[in-house]
Amino acid sequence: MVLSSAASTGTASSATGVTATDVSGGSDLLPLHPFELPGDPLSPNRNLAPITTRINGLGALEVGGCQLSELAHRYGTPLYVLDEATLRATCRAYRQALERFYPGPSLALYASKANSSLAISALVASEGLGLDAVSAGELLTALGGGMPPERMVLHGNNKSAEELELAVARGVTVVVDNWNDLELLAAIAPARSSRVRLLVRFTPGIECHTHEYIRTGHLDSKFGFDPDQLEAVLRHLAECPWADLDGLHAHIGSQIFELEPHRDLAGVMADALQLARSLGHRCSDLNVGGGLGIRYVAGDDPPSIEDWVRTVSEAVVSACSQRGLALPRLLCEPGRSLVATAGVTLYSVGSRKAITGLRTYLSVDGGMSDNPRPITYQSQYTAVLADRPLAPATEMVTLAGKHCESGDVLLKNLALPAAASGDVLAVFATGAYNASMSSNYNRIPRPAAVLVSDGGADLIQRREQPEDLLRYDVLPSRLSSLS
Ligand code: LLP
Repeated sequence: MVLSSAASTGTASSATGVTATDVSGGSDLLPLHPFELPGDPLSPNRNLAPITTRINGLGALEVGGCQLSELAHRYGTPLYVLDEATLRATCRAYRQALERFYPGPSLALYASKANSSLAISALVASEGLGLDAVSAGELLTALGGGMPPERMVLHGNNKSAEELELAVARGVTVVVDNWNDLELLAAIAPARSSRVRLLVRFTPGIECHTHEYIRTGHLDSKFGFDPDQLEAVLRHLAECPWADLDGLHAHIGSQIFELEPHRDLAGVMADALQLARSLGHRCSDLNVGGGLGIRYVAGDDPPSIEDWVRTVSEAVVSACSQRGLALPRLLCEPGRSLVATAGVTLYSVGSRKAITGLRTYLSVDGGMSDNPRPITYQSQYTAVLADRPLAPATEMVTLAGKHCESGDVLLKNLALPAAASGDVLAVFATGAYNASMSSNYNRIPRPAAVLVSDGGADLIQRREQPEDLLRYDVLPSRLSSLS
């Protein structure tokens, strides 16, 4: 990240001109300014803002060469902005690290639940990655974006017969999660001329929270076969002439900052691989899932993509060599770390309510419908005014959304320069699990999304209109005649 302004490495107080005491009277330190952290262009997940973020000659924030406030005026707010350079940089970071640290074949599959659209699918495909889909909708979106089916997998703990049929018909590998999948596939697959390619997902017995993890014999998870069942499944599949067991899958969690659980996972998976191969399965793929965390606030310190890939690669190589196993193709499924940092959400500031001695609410024109993560997980974010990102903070506000829900708060304790109605506010690291988890709560239309690159912006998602929300309503005629 490059600043045209002088301030680039100071502390929070040097750039914002205030300390916590100035604005809150308390002892909490102000969050570091997003532009004061050392940038890591090779691993965007370690930055707060997209790698193309600049302060232009007007002192305003630019991403992908586009002034954010200008985008807000052109496309309206709330607006999801996605930086193409950051997304491509993360794709390349995964691909290059896999090539460098894993001696066998490898493929990173984008976990499209993080943000599914035609444009993102096309970009990720053009970078040579594959994709993980969990529904017919994600699958069709990826195919529509040009993702080759042979680079895709279909996940899900309760896939419908229609979803399985679609995957099988298009040649997408199915990640078998349970016996129900196998029963449904047995009804679909034998009629086809080629065998169906499968991975088997099992629960690895590694429970991972963001900052701690435990290994247990049994895990309370709805995903995948219990490890106790694995041998029976593998034996069953050996008797299914319609099935090719290509490999095994496990995933330990999301927004993980530790590397150790991923190292442990390799050992657990290598044991399973040994068992599968001893039962006659080719089992050439080992899919270790996703999970690498990102920086949402200054205090977050996730590992780099390179460190994550190196750890996983070395652990798989060592676990396989200890067991005398030929190296599998290594698959992984990054979602958040691939797309989150590329995203910035723009809002317009609206009303203000100052409660003396308590707090000041500043409301924006979006909230929990376009970003349900704060209300769902108490997730933290970083935000600045788009046209005055380096202006000294003068007040501490609670940034509220516009929904009829008291908990609809996007950021608590945000230090800002005095913001007026109409100012554009930029919230960082919103590229993952925001658009994809958005809703129409309060019948609020979903935002538009634009892809920015080299000073140009392309619309990649049209803004919903209030009228669109009536499209699937049906008014029975006996009710319409009542009025
Ligand atoms: N593979 C599988 C099988 C998964 O279930 C997931 C995420 C991933 C890959 C991608 O994990 P990532 O690299 O993004 O950590 N809505 C939550 C996150 C849910 C993640 C679900 N599974 C959030 O907003 O934090």
